[in-house]
Amino acid sequence: MSQPVRIGLIGCGGISRAHVRAMLSLGAEEIRVVATCDVEQSLAEERARDAGAEVAVTDWRAVVERKDIDAVDICLPHDLHAEVAITAAQAGKHIFVEKPIATTLGDGWAMVRAARDASVVLMTAFVERFEAENWRTKQLLDEGWLGTPILAQVDHLQNVFIPPGHWARERKRLGGGAIASAGCHRIDLLRWFIGEVEWVSAETFYNPDRMEGEIAGVVNMQFTTGAIANLSISWMSPYRAFYRKLWLEGTEGCIHNWNGLHIFSRKKPEWSEGFVKLEVEPVDPFAAELRHFIECIREGKQPLTSGEEAVRTQAVAIAANESEQTGCRVRPADLLARAMEEVP
Ligand SMILES: NC(=O)c1ccc[n+]([C@@H]2O[C@H](COP(=O)([O-])OP(=O)(O)OC[C@H]3O[C@@H](n4cnc5c(N)ncnc54)[C@H](O)[C@@H]3O)[C@@H](O)[C@H]2O)c1
Repeated sequence: MSQPVRIGLIGCGGISRAHVRAMLSLGAEEIRVVATCDVEQSLAEERARDAGAEVAVTDWRAVVERKDIDAVDICLPHDLHAEVAITAAQAGKHIFVEKPIATTLGDGWAMVRAARDASVVLMTAFVERFEAENWRTKQLLDEGWLGTPILAQVDHLQNVFIPPGHWARERKRLGGGAIASAGCHRIDLLRWFIGEVEWVSAETFYNPDRMEGEIAGVVNMQFTTGAIANLSISWMSPYRAFYRKLWLEGTEGCIHNWNGLHIFSRKKPEWSEGFVKLEVEPVDPFAAELRHFIECIREGKQPLTSGEEAVRTQAVAIAANESEQTGCRVRPADLLARAMEEVP
């Protein structure tokens, strides 16, 4: 039987709670937190208690250097992802890192290179790819029920109040604003469903009392296939009318997720009269993504949400920010090529 994957959890704030809950649900024979770390000692201790870890420290280097861990789970502010991940890779540790992979494409690409050089797994926690409705949508697309994708609309409407002094208020630490920070989930999903994005243009809304980066934005995308998509994101939505809409149209059918996953397809008589609601078994997406991480370590596989995938997704988000600043359409591949050249 395989040994459990031994984890060093670095960053014990908000999202780390969901990670620990998911690890506990997978069981100690699969995954075990050995050490926790946070600059706030009390948070490191709290999460160690939750996870049943014996070690709680404030210095992440002390975790990365430990011989009794196989992997790190990085739940840190975005500007710290790269340094910790690269140091972990150099110490031979596998890496599970929260999204977005980094604040710059150069940093993201350096993480990919470091993981490759050390032959360790680098997985980004794009948890939406592991949600049951999104798995089912991808399956239906791959089976051809929608034909060729033509148009997609996605949104992310939330009211995120970031306390004064918190790192996420700073544009540099967040790597932009709401688009790069949370919109990246939706962009990643669209890339998974449709393919690479050729062109991006964006408009944004700022509220400096709440955060430095944009707090709302609309991003238009054209894919290399010719398909088009729109992302609307707001972190100051007073009422969450529809938190995360998905509307996806192809040449043969259409899917939406309003009050459950619904399909219309000309290719199947039962689905061709109108929208039909599909039964989808719910899963804990945090547990599903961690199970995938464990599998990739054990089988030496590239994760579905590999570091490279995450850098490609971030290139679209960063292109959106460049577009809102310059008023021009931006090609993410050009930004990525520039970043790759900068990292030897
Ligand atoms: N559903 C999702 O996908 C989702 C939701 C929320 C956050 N996230 C991601 O999770 C990551 C963390 O976000 P969060 O909301 O938990 O932030 P947070 O601010 O709640 O937690 C970050 C923690 O890192 C600690 N920290 C800061 N500097 C440190 C250092 N040098 N060494 C050790 N610890 C340090 C802070 O004290 C804090 O406890 C981000 O990448 C964020 O985008 C993902």
